[in-house]
Amino acid sequence: MRHDIRTELRGVLPEEALRLVPRAFDIIGSKQKAVAIIELPEELREYERQIAAALMRVHKNVVSVLAKESERTGEFRIRDLRLVAGDPDTEVVHKESGCLFKLDPRRVYFSPRESAERERIAAKVGDGESILVMFSGVGPFPICIAKRHERVRATAVEINPHAHNYCVENIHLNRVGDHVTAILGDVREICPNLGETFDRVLMPLPKGAHKFLDVAIPLLRDGGILHFYHWAPEPDLFSQAEELVAAAAEACGRRAEVLERVRVSQYSPRVWKIRVDARISAR
Ligand SMILES: C[S@@+](CC[C@H](N)C(=O)[O-])C[C@H]1O[C@@H](n2cnc3c(N)ncnc32)[C@H](O)[C@@H]1O
Repeated sequence: MRHDIRTELRGVLPEEALRLVPRAFDIIGSKQKAVAIIELPEELREYERQIAAALMRVHKNVVSVLAKESERTGEFRIRDLRLVAGDPDTEVVHKESGCLFKLDPRRVYFSPRESAERERIAAKVGDGESILVMFSGVGPFPICIAKRHERVRATAVEINPHAHNYCVENIHLNRVGDHVTAILGDVREICPNLGETFDRVLMPLPKGAHKFLDVAIPLLRDGGILHFYHWAPEPDLFSQAEELVAAAAEACGRRAEVLERVRVSQYSPRVWKIRVDARISAR
């Protein structure tokens, strides 16, 4: 039976340090090669090599252990990750429900915890839709959608060149090259010049997507669907997002009808990443 890293560290770390060892951490990669990303409190710094070694003994596919050194920051939404132990080459191929995502978590945004959200969105897509994925990262949304719907066409726009390059590679790895096109650049500059409108627009940038609603809304055909992500503090999770979407639609001479409100994940004790889906129609 596989035990957890606390059990593995019993007798190695003092009891009070053992209690601080996190039970949860992210593992990104495959059975062949994975990296673990762990949050270590300052008090565990002196034990971090033992903790990393225990983690690699318990999870034999983990070849590198990275410690979170900051929150996600900047335009690329990446955090500082410090190599605690293992292979300095932290590029992996993450396997997730029939898709492969090659990436290096030190260079790009990727969260293995969001696979259920990708599935939820893919399940909403109809055959033959044209979809714009803004802020597309290494391509998990468009690829997950294209793997499940043979006749969709998705355009993915991303500003981080590393993420864009991985997205291009991932499109080939997943054999969806006929259905997904990746474009490197700023959504604000690229999208208005695409020369087409879409059935569905995804905006998976909770910190700041609202600043791009004026770009997204005119690109939806009459009756098209917007998936808008936002960070929201408790207790009122949805009002601000709904107001932002309604005001942006109004400013574009359109009408927004909210279809669904979803708590996607908890960001901090009282702040959630939420999604509001809205149908955008002509006035
Ligand atoms: C929260 S991440 C989501 C990435 C991806 N959709 C996913 O789910 O893994 C947001 C992404 O938006 C990109 N981004 C931020 N501002 C952008 C902009 N103005 N134009 C294009 N991409 C942008 C960042 O580089 C980052 O990869």
